[in-house]
Amino acid sequence: MFYSDDIIEEVRSRNDIVDVISGYVKLQRKGSSYFGLCPFHNEKSPSFSVSPSKQMYYCFGCGAGGNVFTFIMEYENYTFPETLKLLADRAGVSLPEQEYSEEAKRQRDRKSAVLEVNKMAAKYFYYQLRSPQGAKAMEYLKNRQLGDETIKRFGLGYAGPYSDALYRYLKKQGVSDQLLKESGLMQVNERQGMYDKFWNRVMFPIMDVNNKVIGFGGRVMGDGKPKYLNSPETIIFDKSRNLYGLNFARTAKKRYMLVCEGYMDVISMHQAGFTNAVASLGTALTSQHASLLKRYTDEVILTYDSDEAGIRAALRAIPLLKEAGVSTRVLHMEPYKDPDEFIKALGTEAFQDRIDHAENSFMFEVSVMQKSYDMKDPDAKTRFFQAVASKIAGFELEIERENYIEAVTGRYQISFEGLRRMVMNVLMQGVPVRKAPVRQEARQEKEDGIRKSQRLILTWLCEYPKLFETVSAYIRPEDFSDKLYRSVASMLYEQLEHGQLNPARITNHFQDPEQQRTVAKLFNTEVPVETPEEQKKAIKETIHKVMEHGIKQRTAALDPTDMEGLQKLIESKRRLQELERLHISL
Ligand code: CTP
Ligand code: MN
Repeated sequence: MFYSDDIIEEVRSRNDIVDVISGYVKLQRKGSSYFGLCPFHNEKSPSFSVSPSKQMYYCFGCGAGGNVFTFIMEYENYTFPETLKLLADRAGVSLPEQEYSEEAKRQRDRKSAVLEVNKMAAKYFYYQLRSPQGAKAMEYLKNRQLGDETIKRFGLGYAGPYSDALYRYLKKQGVSDQLLKESGLMQVNERQGMYDKFWNRVMFPIMDVNNKVIGFGGRVMGDGKPKYLNSPETIIFDKSRNLYGLNFARTAKKRYMLVCEGYMDVISMHQAGFTNAVASLGTALTSQHASLLKRYTDEVILTYDSDEAGIRAALRAIPLLKEAGVSTRVLHMEPYKDPDEFIKALGTEAFQDRIDHAENSFMFEVSVMQKSYDMKDPDAKTRFFQAVASKIAGFELEIERENYIEAVTGRYQISFEGLRRMVMNVLMQGVPVRKAPVRQEARQEKEDGIRKSQRLILTWLCEYPKLFETVSAYIRPEDFSDKLYRSVASMLYEQLEHGQLNPARITNHFQDPEQQRTVAKLFNTEVPVETPEEQKKAIKETIHKVMEHGIKQRTAALDPTDMEGLQKLIESKRRLQELERLHISL
């Protein structure tokens, strides 16, 4: 992935950000920017802004932001090279042929070849289902109350009754044995050689977020064993990183995602209008799944089966999701087994009602815990509340702890005061561990304040390039706090020195969307004041704050033998005092 900065910038500058985003989001002009409903979170009034002068977007609601590349990467879930290609095509720029290392090229070619074979197989199964041979399979799906639309949308298919049909078909298309072996579609054994892994089953293609078929699940029609067969892991199929249905769910733009166990659950939910449902496909939810989900949502509602296994799976998933920054609720399916059965029996509205009443994950954990204590036995009951108190003590904030104490007292027989004292006792015993984070929080807050001032400086520089002369006399790029801020500042300074302000170009230098988002934030800090007079006062104060912090930082890092550094420091301190008299003009 080594395109030159120039070609990247050419592609960027030939794709006007307002034009490109208008293809996805309805934008309206307001002052010097355009506003619309943010496609990255659910909102009712527009806080998503696109600036034609900065050629960047930023959402004041969720913090999503970047340049035109970031937008496509985030919206389409494309890699940087895919995005570059799309935008180059759009603007009619031809990209130079890539120089790949031999190994990288082989790997890439193998991947696209395996993807291609899986796509051919998906098409084959799809047509089989619609052929006379597939009538029985079609009837099976219809009996399971799937409509034509749904069957088509999920690309369902049928693998016929012979165990070499797909093999022969793909051979006829010229696919090599080696590639067939890698595709995950074949079984190989000494005696029979190579033959189809899937036959006489209804087929569920598994797609990645870009709608590429990466594997299959095949279900027996009826009660045979095993109920499902799945593609093995291949170079394109990693179960711990893919979620069934995510290709559709990611555009559902709901506040939360529904996570369930199986193919049929996802499909039934989507058919009933719950298009934000995904499944982890028979494997337990992994931390990779959790971070994948975090890219699209902050809340998951677990809709696992209501049996023992489902409960265990939920208990395992909750901390993983929490770790990834996703909060969880648990939907109660009783008396039904899974979402598919539930929706068939009680319908959409009842299911929505269960979603609305999904249980807070902490209370779910407590209720599962409670089952292993005999609440009629006073000792056991005490032990139960002790366990609950320890769990509550794990929350950082007092308000959180109080809310949970209240929730528990509302459900179990214990007084608020009683449980609060137990929680206090736990906290007392664990003093050293618990005190530390509080101080760290205070430090963090102060850090955030400085950073905000630094962001304000960069935002002002973008909005009023005329300020550069003044600002640069007081603040140097080295005065900024961390590496990212420093490198953005020095690129911005460089541009301003040459009178060529171009924030979107700076964003090009960061290919990780997380960093691009931060860069966008640097150029879009909300300025809390209105009148020009207030504005000037704020700028002055901010310069003071950033400069003071920069001096502190440099003092701490100063090597005592560095005379030049010392001189500069003394000079900065002098200038800091002069700052009082500075006159700012916008
Ligand atoms: N599964 C599997 N292999 C099996 C059984 C199950 O891979 N032998 C996976 C499948 O992804 C399946 C999920 O686990 O979708 C949940 O299993 P189960 O609840 O048994 O199946 P359902 O999805 O409910 O399917 P159906 O309604 O057809 O019974
Ligand atoms: Mn099930």
